[in-house]
Amino acid sequence: MLVTSDENGNFMKEAEIADKILSLLIGGHDTASSVCASVVMFLAELPHVYQRVYEEQMEIAKSKAPGELLNWDDIKKMKYSWNVACEVMRLAPPLQGTFREAMTDFMYNGFSIPKGCKLYWSANSTHKNSEFFFEPHKFDPSRFEGSGPVPYTYVPFGGGPRMCPGKEYARLEILVFMHNLVKRFKWEKVIPNKKIVFDPMPNPEKGLPIRLFPHKA
Ligand code: HEM
Repeated sequence: MLVTSDENGNFMKEAEIADKILSLLIGGHDTASSVCASVVMFLAELPHVYQRVYEEQMEIAKSKAPGELLNWDDIKKMKYSWNVACEVMRLAPPLQGTFREAMTDFMYNGFSIPKGCKLYWSANSTHKNSEFFFEPHKFDPSRFEGSGPVPYTYVPFGGGPRMCPGKEYARLEILVFMHNLVKRFKWEKVIPNKKIVFDPMPNPEKGLPIRLFPHKA
């Protein structure tokens, strides 16, 4: 960005570069950290889900030599844990949605949308549509078994050609986090509040202090 100009020899202005760096920091860090925090919250509330994640992760942990790091094959074995993370992102998507531009005139729900109009698509409301998600407010990782949700009904990473390019990296980050936390600790929430506020990522209203209980050796 600093050394490359466009075809007319114009360089990016400092403010534009700052804007892009800020977007990458928010998009690349705050999103995945929000998911990790939501995973901690849901696993504290749902001991039967925690138990299955724990069993899956311990199976992998036991197959490793002391100090041996996780590898790609281990990640592929974390199927249930990833279904849990997906269900977390369905109920608490880090990004609420973003914009698209209408390429043609069309009608939607009785509204006439002209070509060129800016449209906002919402992950949050799409994920709670009972037409596609039975009992949409229920935490149910089995929704992601088999072929999973119908295309474009589950969109925490967006969809189409501008879909999030960080998706696979985020998957690694979240699963490695889950592995290392679950194999060492069980935990409980210190504040039993359930209210989630969006600022703009989903966060428990009063933060998420937890009490950790190390597993017995
Ligand atoms: C759980 C983690 C993440 C979530 C939920 C997420 C979600 C999203 C969403 C919804 C979009 C808009 C997609 C669309 O318009 O269809 C997006 C775009 C983007 N994300 Fe992510 N993201 C995550 C992690 C990351 C990471 C780790 C990086 C980079 C290290 C990243 C980089 C980007 C970039 C550069 C774009 C813009 C793509 C474009 O406009 O062509 N994201 N992300």
